[in-house]
Amino acid sequence: MSHADRPAAAVLAEAAAAAGYAPSVHNTQPWRWRVTDEALDLYAVRDRQLHVADPEGRLLTISCGTALDHAEVALSAEGWSTAVRKLPDAADRNHLAHITLADRTGVTPEAMRLFQAVRVRHTDRRPVSGTPASEEAIGVIERAVRAKGLHLHLLTRDQTLDLAAAASHADKVETNDEDQRTELAYWIGGDRADGAGVPDAVIPSHAPETTVPGRDFVRAGTLTVGPGHDKAATYAVLYGPGDEPADWLSAGQALSAGWLVATELGVSVLPFSSVIELPGTRQTLRRVISDVGYPYLVLRLGVADPDAAGPPHTPRLPVAQTIEVVTA
Ligand SMILES: Cc1cc2nc3c(=O)[nH]c(=O)nc-3n(C[C@H](O)[C@H](O)[C@H](O)COP(=O)(O)O)c2cc1C
Repeated sequence: MSHADRPAAAVLAEAAAAAGYAPSVHNTQPWRWRVTDEALDLYAVRDRQLHVADPEGRLLTISCGTALDHAEVALSAEGWSTAVRKLPDAADRNHLAHITLADRTGVTPEAMRLFQAVRVRHTDRRPVSGTPASEEAIGVIERAVRAKGLHLHLLTRDQTLDLAAAASHADKVETNDEDQRTELAYWIGGDRADGAGVPDAVIPSHAPETTVPGRDFVRAGTLTVGPGHDKAATYAVLYGPGDEPADWLSAGQALSAGWLVATELGVSVLPFSSVIELPGTRQTLRRVISDVGYPYLVLRLGVADPDAAGPPHTPRLPVAQTIEVVTA
């Protein structure tokens, strides 16, 4: 059988497996895939929603959007263009996307490079190095986000100070809330042998000296952080035109698209979501971007310290828990 003649279900199942490497809030991986002979369907899994920090499911849906884009990247690397219907079933809000194979497009080197970035991409919570990401690289990341219909607003120095105040406020509010702490403890720390959540190995051993504080996980991890700062970091707000589930799904696609090209270009991306979780700080961010749209996530862009070992990869759930194959 030639490469092009492989059964659609096999191609779709592989794409769903590749989507498992997508980033998600607290590594909750709140998605389930259903593979049939004709299509790939993406569902939100509410059991893995952060019901305290994310009651509306904004971060859950953004996370599922990253998985959706990863699946599309995998299909494109197999030489397929896809047709994607978002939120195809008005009666089932958990049914987030229906993907079918459209045309054979041939495999481009660009598609292969993006697909390779899927296995390399990871979250690095150490401070960035003193070398800023180049304007050119940031321009490429912005264009990848724009191609998904969204935008990055790059923060000025003053706006970064506003972000720092908002991030520190959000962390204080969340860590003082017992329900938030209980939810955090459920997802964060330990070795995460079951494949979900954030292990100690990727959490800094002490809070780095940065202007904008990274998320307070309320426990020290084992990731060594050097003396670096975030002076050379660029902070950006990912934003778009609406604040509904379809917008959040697009935000996830844009986050994935931007993060994968950033990975190719050696730019480290660190999401900040506590400022999005609290309505008050989310409103502050709206003002920071002059009400031009709705903020979905803040991103720190920079270059990782090339001399020190980076964090290991965060584990993933076994595919049997996230993919169901139903073929004739
Ligand atoms: C919507 C979203 C929000 C996130 N928020 C944060 C955050 O506030 N702080 C943080 O350190 N990492 C954050 N992350 C990164 C995740 O923790 C990370 O993607 C996950 O643990 C999987 O690890 P990996 O990216 O290294 O594969 C976020 C990721 C997503 C997709």
